[in-house]
Amino acid sequence: MSSIVIVGAQWGDEGKGKVVDLVTERAELVVRYAGGPNAGHTLVVGGEKLIVRLVPSGILQPHSVCAMAQGMVIDPAVLVGEIAALTQRGIKTSGRLFISDRAHIILPHHILIDGLREGSTGVQKLGTTKKGIGPCYEDKAARRGLRFADLADLGRARALVARSLEAWAPTISALGGAVPDVASVMESVETHAAQLLPLVTDTSILVDDAQRAGKRMVFEGAQGILLDLDHGTYPFVTSSSAVAGGACTGAGIGPTRLTRVVGITKAYATRVGEGPFPTELNDEVGERLRQRGVEFGSVTGRPRRTGWLDIPALRYAARVSGVDAWAITKLDVLTGLETIEVCTGYETPAGKTTELPAALEGARPVYTSLPGWTEEIGSARRLEELPKNARDFVRFIEEKTNAEAYLVSVGPGREETIAVRDVWG
Ligand code: GDP
Ligand code: IMO
Ligand code: MG
Repeated sequence: MSSIVIVGAQWGDEGKGKVVDLVTERAELVVRYAGGPNAGHTLVVGGEKLIVRLVPSGILQPHSVCAMAQGMVIDPAVLVGEIAALTQRGIKTSGRLFISDRAHIILPHHILIDGLREGSTGVQKLGTTKKGIGPCYEDKAARRGLRFADLADLGRARALVARSLEAWAPTISALGGAVPDVASVMESVETHAAQLLPLVTDTSILVDDAQRAGKRMVFEGAQGILLDLDHGTYPFVTSSSAVAGGACTGAGIGPTRLTRVVGITKAYATRVGEGPFPTELNDEVGERLRQRGVEFGSVTGRPRRTGWLDIPALRYAARVSGVDAWAITKLDVLTGLETIEVCTGYETPAGKTTELPAALEGARPVYTSLPGWTEEIGSARRLEELPKNARDFVRFIEEKTNAEAYLVSVGPGREETIAVRDVWG
């Protein structure tokens, strides 16, 4: 295996940071292919926690080169802050962190519009992260977005910013906001341009060179398959291609070059923001999962909604992303539950189904009950060291989804992991 896609198979926050960091131990290039600072990927190494939002999660592995590819939308201020925080921790970024010249730039009015829409009563509230993600991708699709390459010619950049502001002005005004002028937007972009421009390059060449040299590559997803614009629980989704296929469009690698897709799923389910969540638990079990799993947004601090694992959703995610290996995270969070419910189908107005319906509203989960375990499992390093019921739970997921578990995570730390199979093998 030489090029592995690592993708969240639920609604985000599955543990991509931890898994990418681990897998990158043996990779030379890590490429983040989608999303922007709506992501928050947590790395816990030696008891120290670091959250990255734009920088790839391979940054803590000193040998790895990290690229932010053209499928991403980048807020220069957030990136500059992230680089400063890494530098302060003694993590070197120069010469090993690159930005695609084709990646789009999140502008101040994108953030303004995202916030105004979320705060408005007349517009459908999605519960976004308010980081400007939607409006930036909207400008991209409308073919007036500003890319890092455009900063080489400030006149051209100014013209693009002016077109964007002109297009958005009626929306901003209708939502009660003040339309910024071109000069103020350009000033904010230029403030960080000098620091970031040396990192800008054609990252598809990095990918191609690595591939030709037989180097190992990791393609890091953001968000999750159920938040994907095409495949997620639309309209309660993000604006990018979060599926594994997003690695092809977002990083510029052909599908024949990808050799494995690792899907990550928690042992239960969470979701932040609005949108359907059939297995959601609004009871003490849900609260227990939230507390034990520390289910609070790493970017916004919002409490995450919690619920049972949803097998039809997982099978769907595996299907649309070609998941052939699972990383099952947060198994330790289930310790102490007498019974673990797993959704294996739904009752819908159209009848019973074991497939994920396109419209989830009105779908009621049908559960299979599995016995829990009481032992703490954070120190397990082999499957055999897990209680039998925990092993059976892992096997249940494998059987129901037709894909094997390669990693089982039993704690946030890098070492709190059971490597069941070699992801590079
Ligand atoms: P990401 O967005 O997919 O990278 O996930 P987040 O970092 O937003 O959220 C995952 C959270 O779970 C982080 O706080 C991780 O440190 C933590 N975590 C990851 N794996 C495990 C695990 O196996 N057990 C526990 N208890 N926490 C974990
Ligand atoms: P990581 O990479 C969890 C959710 C938001 C909202 C919807 C749209 O850390 O897993 P957006 O700001 O993208 O327009 O919001 O998507 N969302 C995430 N939820 N983890 C994420 O990233 C998310 N990124 C976006 O909560 O429901
Ligand atoms: Mg996250």
